[in-house]
This record gives sequence, structure tokens and C-alpha cells, in this order.
Amino acid sequence: MLIIVPGPASVKMGEKIAEILNLETINVEFKVFPDGESYLRLKRDIKGEKAIIVQSTYPPQDTHLFQLYLLIDTVLRQGVKEVTVTVPYLAYSRQDKIFRPNEVVSVVTILRILEKLGVARLITVNIHESKVFQNVSFSCINLSATRILAEYFKSLNDVVAFAPDVKAKRMAEEASQVLGGPYGWFRKERDRVTGEITMNQDGDVEVKNREVVLFDDIISTGATTAKAVKILKDRGASHVYAACIHALLREDAYKKIIESGAEVVVATDTTPSEVSKVSVVPLIAQTLKNIS
Ligand code: R5P
Repeated sequence: MLIIVPGPASVKMGEKIAEILNLETINVEFKVFPDGESYLRLKRDIKGEKAIIVQSTYPPQDTHLFQLYLLIDTVLRQGVKEVTVTVPYLAYSRQDKIFRPNEVVSVVTILRILEKLGVARLITVNIHESKVFQNVSFSCINLSATRILAEYFKSLNDVVAFAPDVKAKRMAEEASQVLGGPYGWFRKERDRVTGEITMNQDGDVEVKNREVVLFDDIISTGATTAKAVKILKDRGASHVYAACIHALLREDAYKKIIESGAEVVVATDTTPSEVSKVSVVPLIAQTLKNIS
């Protein structure tokens, strides 16, 4: 039998998925020791079941990742038949290759840990670079929430979907299929040491007097989005709306983006935040239904 094990980072999401699929939820007792270590205990033995652990790894990433590892190891020690991990936001995904000599490739290390622990399947949403899955042999499913995010802006007219960098170009293209207009993108360069960003438009999409929705996978400090919004406004876009899948919104990211001229910031609920208005729960539930 399939059962849902919601980790401490995704209790509500796990419960909602279980409700849609009519599956049992195994509650996880959770506390933090005075020194900061996590304690987890499943409310019952789940030997012989197929477990679906739901745990997003938004900040504090290391804590949420470690809790995920603890849960995987625990259910496997209990003798479950199979473990699927649903990690809507997979932390460290941007460190997906060696940019500077001798540095870590964090996301590959995480995937290798999941492999060593013995997961059968990973389900995630809009991972920064899906090529990293080539490093492991278990099944990895990368869902795209771009279309459901674009649906949020469906009432706008004469819309250009835009990407702040080449990596997000595919998102803008996918969103434009929902929004019915053209798509454009910038070429972004980021200084790997100082973090400074430069951006130039590629292609020739006109934004003057048009509505623009800017799509990116992640908003962290907001520097990328704020810079792109400002350029689009300077070029005469009537309104610019900022959308992302994973809203990390560190420091004063939200303020920065609004002050740069954006009307709103809208994200999915892969990471909980005030702007997480679009839920990926139905998308994940449908995927789990298809593979079970
Ligand atoms: C980078 O390639 C990502 O797709 C995002 O554009 C980036 O992580 C956003 O970071 P920030 O909000 O700090 O500029």
C-alpha cells in the first residue's frame, strides 16, 4: 500500500497530496534539541508499505535536507518496499557544475546521497538543470509548473512572456503558449566572485506599451528580477509582473523587485512565502497517481 510521510518542512503539502489521492498520512513527531539537532519519529511502523516522503528543502536548506536523509533511512530500516521522495524545491540546484576550479558540485553530492540511501524515485519541480540527473541511476522526475504559473496571468491582454536569462528562456516559451503572445529573453552574465549582474536583450521582441510577465525558476536576492524589471519598464512596458517557481526571497528581495517597478511577485508553493499563490499540489498528486 502507498502511504504519505510528510516531513517537517512540508506537513501541509503532504497532507493535501494524501487527501487528493485518498492515501493514509503517517504523521511524523518532530522536535529540535536545544543544540539545534532534529529529532523525528514516525507515529507507526510502516514495514511492507511503499512510502512517499514529501519534504521541500527551502531555507534552512541544510536542516531540511538532513531531515529528509533521516526520514529516508528510517523508513528503509523499517522495511518499506520502496521510497519515493517528493522534493518540490531541491536546494543547491544552482551549483550544478564546476564554475571555478576545485569547487563543490553541491546538487550532485545531494543526488549521490539520495542514491546511497536507496531511494527509488525523486520527484521535483523545475530543477535548475535537469542534466544533473545523469549522475545517478534512480528515477528522477522533473515536473514543470510553468504552465500553471502562467495561468495565473491569463486575464491579461497583449502579454509578452520574458526570461531574465537564457536558462529561463524555455520557461518564457512555455508560458507564452498559455498566455498567447510572444516571448523574449535577456542574456545575463554574473560575476562569479562579486555577484554583479549585467543583462542584454537577445532577440527583437518589442515590449513598449505591452504587459510583460517575467518568468524565472528562482528568486533569491531579487537582483536578477529587479534588474530585468527595470530594463523592461525603461523600454516602455506598460506593466511588469514578476513570476517564479521557487520564491526564496532573501534579504529585501520583495521590496527591491517592487521598487524596481514590478506590479506583483507571484510564485508557487514549492517554498512557503507570502507570494506563493499557485499550488503545485495537484501537479504532484497527478504525477504520483500516474506512477502508482
Ligand atoms: C540563476 O540562474 C537563476 O535562474 C536565478 O535567475 C537566480 O538564482 C536568481 O537569483 P537572485 O534573485 O539572487 O538574482
